[in-house]
Amino acid sequence: MKQQTLVLLKPDALQRGLIGKIIARFEAKGLKLIALKMIAVDEELARRHYVEHVEKEFFPELLQFIIAAPVVAMALEGEKAVEVVRTLIGATDPLAALPGTIRGDFGLNLTKNLIHGSDSPQSAARELETFFAGELLNYNLSLNEWIE
Ligand code: RTP
Ligand code: MG
Repeated sequence: MKQQTLVLLKPDALQRGLIGKIIARFEAKGLKLIALKMIAVDEELARRHYVEHVEKEFFPELLQFIIAAPVVAMALEGEKAVEVVRTLIGATDPLAALPGTIRGDFGLNLTKNLIHGSDSPQSAARELETFFAGELLNYNLSLNEWIE
């Protein structure tokens, strides 16, 4: 079943020059980019995006981190894209994330864990609306007949 999901490359990924490498993994997997932009997340947007975490004790640290530099936001489409993207990203804590995953290969810190991926189709729909309302592109990716 085809799904759409939101990915954010967090400020640490941008500052560390890992944007290209990370996007390349999603391209190589065969996921289709249907939106892409850089955005400076402010406190209001952070609270909206991370609404399920605003009351948690780690939220102040997460907030300071996510507003510290721009993020790269993208929407990806493909078979089971929500779950597939989470698998490519790896466990929340980079210390526990398996090698071969993005967090497992590039991270060491629980807050600075490089990347966000929607955790369910419901979250994906809400988060895509937050970052890309009316901006998702519909086009034919010709090479997909060799992937799907
Ligand atoms: P994300 O939403 O960013 O894709 O990450 P996730 O689903 O794997 O993890 P989630 O539980 O949603 O946590 C959101 C982000 O908050 C930071 N965090 N810090 N210090 C802490 O205890 C802690 N726990 C979570 C991480 O940046 C995590 O990705
Ligand atoms: Mg999450």
